[in-house]
Amino acid sequence: MYGSNDVDNRRIHLGVPSFYLSLRWRARALLRSSFLGVFLYSAISLSPIPANSVFADNQPNNDINLNTALVLADILRAARSEIASQQPAINNDLVGDKGLGGEVVQQNVIKRLQEAGKAEPLANPANDIEAKLIKAQLESIFEIIDENQPLINKKGIGFKGFVPAVFAQLTNERFGEKVGSIAEIKVTAPMELVRNRKARPDAWEREVIETRFMSADWVKGSLFSEEADGKNGAAFRVMVPEYYGQACLACHGGPKGEVDVTGYPKEGGMAGDLGGSISVTLYK
Ligand code: HEC
Repeated sequence: MYGSNDVDNRRIHLGVPSFYLSLRWRARALLRSSFLGVFLYSAISLSPIPANSVFADNQPNNDINLNTALVLADILRAARSEIASQQPAINNDLVGDKGLGGEVVQQNVIKRLQEAGKAEPLANPANDIEAKLIKAQLESIFEIIDENQPLINKKGIGFKGFVPAVFAQLTNERFGEKVGSIAEIKVTAPMELVRNRKARPDAWEREVIETRFMSADWVKGSLFSEEADGKNGAAFRVMVPEYYGQACLACHGGPKGEVDVTGYPKEGGMAGDLGGSISVTLYK
């Protein structure tokens, strides 16, 4: 059990050149345009800059803040994808030890980031705060997987409810326990879609979802960022919209109201619909 020390000691050698600081986020956004980010990030770099965006004020700091927020969102997404790809293994009722301990999952997440060309901040964080947040997030992933070993390895039950969204919620809560005074990561959704009460949007998130992401002229995939208060005071806040893909519809699709495999009523969503938003808050 040495997931956290791994990160502490920087024993992860990612072999990526240190060009982080020399590039502004838009250039990085282009570099990111592979893997899952293809649509999202190309949309960001091509789309008109939304009003009240990061460019409105305090630009240099907020360029860095935006990058940090996107790194945390990338790690979250890589972690969810890892749990999604492990669903068949996790839900295998015949096998006990799945070999999916905290360290294995953490390493797989790092590998996903490397393969997507997004691991460089892990080796070369932009600043001490980013380093601390990345470490806290990787530790949270490790711990939640580690603590859920009895469930994951339980023989005799197939579906265990340990789906990416549940894992993400737990990981984000753990992250909050570790570094909540300086940052928060949350997955939220439009009010009418929220399943877990803890995922309900706060006033600012709700406003962004309803007046930006849901407005007809919002360029799909564009994020929104702004200086705004979070629950611990003044912050730089970023919302990254998420849309349903085919794979999401088994639970969030139709027929609306029918109970899905996790026990929640389905939302009746369709591919391409706004399903929610990753919300990152970086306190000042
Ligand atoms: C196996 C069923 C299942 C699939 C597939 C699934 N989800 Fe979910 N989703 C859930 C459950 C269960 C929750 C509530 C998690 C919790 O209790 O914290 C949830 C929560 C969410 C939330 C957070 C807000 C809330 O309602 O609590 C968002 C956003 C979301 N899902 C989007 C997606 C997207 C996008 C996909 C496809 C990439 C997807 N989901 C695939 C079951 C699923």
